[in-house]
Amino acid sequence: MAVREIVLLGDPVLRQKAKKIHRFDPSLQKLVNDMFETMHAADGAGLAAPQIGLLLRLFVVELDDEETGKHHKIAIANPEIVSEEGEQCGLDGCLSIPGYYGVNVRRAARVVMKGQDVRGKPLRVSADGYFAWALQHERDHLDGILYIDLLESPDDLRVARREEIEEEAGAIE
Ligand code: NI
Repeated sequence: MAVREIVLLGDPVLRQKAKKIHRFDPSLQKLVNDMFETMHAADGAGLAAPQIGLLLRLFVVELDDEETGKHHKIAIANPEIVSEEGEQCGLDGCLSIPGYYGVNVRRAARVVMKGQDVRGKPLRVSADGYFAWALQHERDHLDGILYIDLLESPDDLRVARREEIEEEAGAIE
Protein backbone atom coordinates (compact mmCIF):
# COMPACT_ATOMS: atom_id res chain seq x y z
CA MET A 1 0.00 0.00 0.00
CA ALA A 2 1.09 3.53 -0.59
CA VAL A 3 -0.10 7.02 0.08
CA ARG A 4 -0.55 8.79 -3.25
CA GLU A 5 -0.25 12.49 -3.86
CA ILE A 6 -3.59 14.32 -3.86
CA VAL A 7 -4.17 16.58 -6.84
CA LEU A 8 -5.26 20.11 -5.97
CA LEU A 9 -7.74 22.56 -7.49
CA GLY A 10 -6.21 24.07 -10.63
CA ASP A 11 -5.02 20.73 -12.00
CA PRO A 12 -7.05 20.04 -15.17
CA VAL A 13 -7.47 16.37 -14.24
CA LEU A 14 -10.06 17.44 -11.65
CA ARG A 15 -12.20 18.95 -14.39
CA GLN A 16 -12.21 16.07 -16.85
CA LYS A 17 -14.67 13.24 -17.31
CA ALA A 18 -13.28 9.98 -15.98
CA LYS A 19 -13.38 6.79 -18.06
CA LYS A 20 -15.34 3.67 -17.37
CA ILE A 21 -13.40 0.79 -15.81
CA HIS A 22 -13.42 -2.39 -17.89
CA ARG A 23 -10.57 -4.36 -16.38
CA PHE A 24 -11.09 -5.76 -12.89
CA ASP A 25 -7.75 -7.33 -12.02
CA PRO A 26 -5.60 -7.43 -8.88
CA SER A 27 -4.07 -4.07 -9.75
CA LEU A 28 -7.50 -2.50 -9.18
CA GLN A 29 -7.62 -3.92 -5.64
CA LYS A 30 -4.16 -2.48 -5.05
CA LEU A 31 -5.31 0.90 -6.32
CA VAL A 32 -8.37 0.82 -4.04
CA ASN A 33 -6.13 -0.02 -1.07
CA ASP A 34 -3.91 2.94 -1.93
CA MET A 35 -6.96 5.19 -2.20
CA PHE A 36 -8.22 4.19 1.25
CA GLU A 37 -4.74 4.71 2.68
CA THR A 38 -4.38 8.11 0.99
CA MET A 39 -7.84 9.18 2.19
CA HIS A 40 -7.10 8.13 5.77
CA ALA A 41 -3.70 9.84 5.76
CA ALA A 42 -5.44 13.06 4.70
CA ASP A 43 -8.19 12.55 7.30
CA GLY A 44 -10.89 12.53 4.61
CA ALA A 45 -14.19 10.67 4.29
CA GLY A 46 -13.99 10.02 0.56
CA LEU A 47 -11.58 10.07 -2.36
CA ALA A 48 -12.17 9.75 -6.09
CA ALA A 49 -9.58 8.42 -8.55
CA PRO A 50 -9.17 11.77 -10.39
CA GLN A 51 -7.97 13.21 -7.07
CA ILE A 52 -4.85 11.07 -7.37
CA GLY A 53 -4.53 11.95 -11.05
CA LEU A 54 -6.28 8.90 -12.54
CA LEU A 55 -9.20 9.44 -14.90
CA LEU A 56 -11.07 6.33 -13.82
CA ARG A 57 -14.68 6.02 -12.66
CA LEU A 58 -13.78 4.83 -9.19
CA PHE A 59 -14.10 6.20 -5.68
CA VAL A 60 -13.85 5.16 -2.05
CA VAL A 61 -15.82 6.39 0.95
CA GLU A 62 -15.34 5.52 4.61
CA LEU A 63 -17.12 7.41 7.33
CA ASP A 64 -19.09 7.27 10.55
CA ASP A 65 -22.56 8.75 10.46
CA GLU A 66 -22.84 10.17 13.96
CA GLU A 67 -26.58 10.60 13.59
CA THR A 68 -27.22 6.90 13.04
CA GLY A 69 -24.07 5.53 14.65
CA LYS A 70 -23.40 3.54 11.48
CA HIS A 71 -20.00 2.98 9.89
CA HIS A 72 -19.96 2.96 6.11
CA LYS A 73 -17.12 1.74 3.91
CA ILE A 74 -17.37 1.29 0.16
CA ALA A 75 -15.26 1.18 -2.98
CA ILE A 76 -17.33 1.53 -6.12
CA ALA A 77 -16.43 1.43 -9.79
CA ASN A 78 -18.60 2.85 -12.56
CA PRO A 79 -21.15 4.33 -10.13
CA GLU A 80 -24.52 5.60 -11.31
CA ILE A 81 -27.26 7.23 -9.31
CA VAL A 82 -30.39 5.15 -9.88
CA SER A 83 -32.71 7.39 -7.88
CA GLU A 84 -32.58 10.34 -5.55
CA GLU A 85 -35.08 11.85 -3.14
CA GLY A 86 -35.46 14.84 -0.90
CA GLU A 87 -32.89 17.47 -0.09
CA GLN A 88 -30.27 18.15 2.54
CA CYS A 89 -28.31 21.34 2.94
CA GLY A 90 -25.00 21.69 4.68
CA LEU A 91 -21.25 22.09 4.67
CA ASP A 92 -19.02 20.53 2.10
CA GLY A 93 -15.28 20.28 1.78
CA CYS A 94 -12.84 18.52 -0.48
CA LEU A 95 -9.33 17.15 -0.04
CA SER A 96 -8.44 18.80 -3.36
CA ILE A 97 -9.45 22.22 -2.02
CA PRO A 98 -7.65 22.39 1.33
CA GLY A 99 -8.27 25.34 3.64
CA TYR A 100 -11.76 26.07 2.34
CA TYR A 101 -15.26 24.81 2.83
CA GLY A 102 -18.66 25.61 1.40
CA VAL A 103 -21.89 26.36 3.23
CA ASN A 104 -25.50 26.02 2.10
CA VAL A 105 -24.59 23.25 -0.33
CA ARG A 106 -27.65 21.30 -1.41
CA ARG A 107 -27.69 17.62 -2.24
CA ALA A 108 -30.29 14.86 -2.34
CA ALA A 109 -31.22 13.49 1.07
CA ARG A 110 -31.37 9.88 -0.12
CA VAL A 111 -29.85 8.12 -3.08
CA VAL A 112 -29.73 4.66 -4.56
CA MET A 113 -26.46 4.07 -6.37
CA LYS A 114 -25.38 1.14 -8.46
CA GLY A 115 -21.99 0.20 -9.75
CA GLN A 116 -19.42 -2.57 -9.44
CA ASP A 117 -17.18 -3.73 -6.64
CA VAL A 118 -13.45 -4.17 -7.00
CA ARG A 119 -13.94 -7.60 -8.64
CA GLY A 120 -16.48 -6.31 -11.14
CA LYS A 121 -19.48 -7.77 -9.34
CA PRO A 122 -22.60 -5.56 -9.54
CA LEU A 123 -23.42 -3.72 -6.36
CA ARG A 124 -26.25 -1.49 -5.28
CA VAL A 125 -26.37 0.74 -2.24
CA SER A 126 -29.14 2.76 -0.61
CA ALA A 127 -27.88 5.69 1.40
CA ASP A 128 -29.15 8.65 3.32
CA GLY A 129 -27.71 11.47 5.40
CA TYR A 130 -23.96 11.94 5.49
CA PHE A 131 -23.29 8.70 3.59
CA ALA A 132 -25.58 9.82 0.74
CA TRP A 133 -23.85 13.19 0.79
CA ALA A 134 -20.40 11.63 0.40
CA LEU A 135 -21.54 9.31 -2.41
CA GLN A 136 -22.88 12.28 -4.37
CA HIS A 137 -19.74 14.37 -3.74
CA GLU A 138 -17.43 11.59 -4.94
CA ARG A 139 -19.56 10.66 -7.94
CA ASP A 140 -19.48 14.32 -9.02
CA HIS A 141 -15.66 14.13 -9.12
CA LEU A 142 -15.93 11.55 -11.92
CA ASP A 143 -17.61 14.16 -14.12
CA GLY A 144 -15.22 16.95 -13.14
CA ILE A 145 -17.73 18.57 -10.81
CA LEU A 146 -16.57 20.09 -7.51
CA TYR A 147 -18.67 21.38 -4.63
CA ILE A 148 -17.63 24.93 -5.46
CA ASP A 149 -19.72 24.57 -8.64
CA LEU A 150 -22.81 23.99 -6.49
CA LEU A 151 -22.52 27.17 -4.41
CA GLU A 152 -25.35 29.63 -4.91
CA SER A 153 -23.29 32.62 -3.76
CA PRO A 154 -19.54 33.35 -3.71
CA ASP A 155 -20.01 34.21 -0.01
CA ASP A 156 -20.78 30.57 0.61
CA LEU A 157 -17.12 29.70 0.08
CA ARG A 158 -15.33 30.13 3.40
CA VAL A 159 -11.69 30.05 4.42
CA ALA A 160 -10.88 28.00 7.47
CA ARG A 161 -8.25 26.24 9.38
CA ARG A 162 -8.88 22.52 9.48
CA GLU A 163 -9.87 22.62 13.17
CA GLU A 164 -12.55 25.19 12.38
CA ILE A 165 -14.01 22.98 9.66
CA GLU A 166 -14.20 20.08 12.07
CA GLU A 167 -15.86 22.24 14.74
CA GLU A 168 -18.47 23.53 12.31
CA ALA A 169 -19.14 20.08 10.90
CA GLY A 170 -19.58 18.83 14.45
CA ALA A 171 -22.02 21.64 15.19
CA ILE A 172 -24.20 20.74 12.22
CA GLU A 173 -24.40 17.04 13.10
NI1 NI B 1 -13.81 16.04 -3.12
